[in-house]
Amino acid sequence: MTITIDPLPEDLPQRALPEKLGFGQIFSDRMFTQEWTTAEGWHNARIGPYKPFSLDPSTAVFHYAQEIFEGTKAYRRPDGKINLFRPWENAARFNRSARRMAMQEVDPETHVEAMLKLVELENRWVPDAPASLYIRPTLIATEPALGVHASSRFLHFIIVGPVGAYFATGFNPVPVYISDQYVRAVRGGTGEAKTGGNYAASLLVGEEVAKLGYQQVLWLDGVERKYVEEVGAMNIAFAYGKHIITPQLTGTILPGITRKSVLEMAPDLGYTVSEERIEIAQVLADIERGEITEVFGMGTAAVIAPVGKFGYAGKEYAIGGGQVGPISKHLYQYLTDLQYGRIPDPYGWTVVVE
Ligand SMILES: Cc1ncc(COP(=O)(O)O)c(C=O)c1O
Repeated sequence: MTITIDPLPEDLPQRALPEKLGFGQIFSDRMFTQEWTTAEGWHNARIGPYKPFSLDPSTAVFHYAQEIFEGTKAYRRPDGKINLFRPWENAARFNRSARRMAMQEVDPETHVEAMLKLVELENRWVPDAPASLYIRPTLIATEPALGVHASSRFLHFIIVGPVGAYFATGFNPVPVYISDQYVRAVRGGTGEAKTGGNYAASLLVGEEVAKLGYQQVLWLDGVERKYVEEVGAMNIAFAYGKHIITPQLTGTILPGITRKSVLEMAPDLGYTVSEERIEIAQVLADIERGEITEVFGMGTAAVIAPVGKFGYAGKEYAIGGGQVGPISKHLYQYLTDLQYGRIPDPYGWTVVVE
């Protein structure tokens, strides 16, 4: 589908890229939008000025949370061009989430083209490494009606904004609390979809563990509360020497693109990998025995986030003496080198925007 490019207002203030970048507070000058209705299908694809929406108070998304989103990044390469990392994987997950939430799927070609064109037009908003441009594709149900049914109208939009490095003060181990009181997802639920409700449901426990001095929550399975699932907005892995294990995908975990990349590239870097059902009791025993040498999260935001300690049922479990381990460092370095185009990409994962 052709994407119409609308001009920016002539009197648009020229905002400078701030020196200190946080996460998700600043957005660029433009956004992508397209609409879907039963009668017209997808139409009106355009990139125009970033601006608020005007929606009827009865709009479905406000009431029944029929929405999905994605998160990916654009990276400034040393040659000045820009890399996107596995945007097709991201588009495929967007559509899997759409299906689960009874929403209209998007044409992946239009979706990826919109991301590439937006990044090209917003080139000046792509900061140098270690910062990046965060890309947030979203799909919302826009039918103005309170009946509980799948919407007959959708709005697909993509916004972008510069974000700072996750580890602003260096690559530091993160303290993680293991929740045995709350759960994130159950089999047959929406755990593997990237839909807002999953995140809304995690906020309360996130606040509670922050008061105890933890930065993230590790979720256990929703039935027995015995098996490891994932951490906040990251998948999790455990290293036994040079062997890396991560929970298998059972329908409750978000299938992370960073997780997938680690599983695919780790054997080339000298590690073995497996996807398993992992019992938390076994993990904690193996940490205490020193058999688990490293634990790390995997996700777009932090890439690799070493876990320094777990808190569980009133007890603390320190991992690797609270230091960042060599596998976390190695994977982080290799993956960020690929993403920023500092090394050749043998996997064909990066897409270059000239
Ligand atoms: C719940 C959850 N798990 C895992 C991930 C990691 O996925 P990815 O590596 O694709 O960013 C994310 C982030 O998108 C997430 O929100």
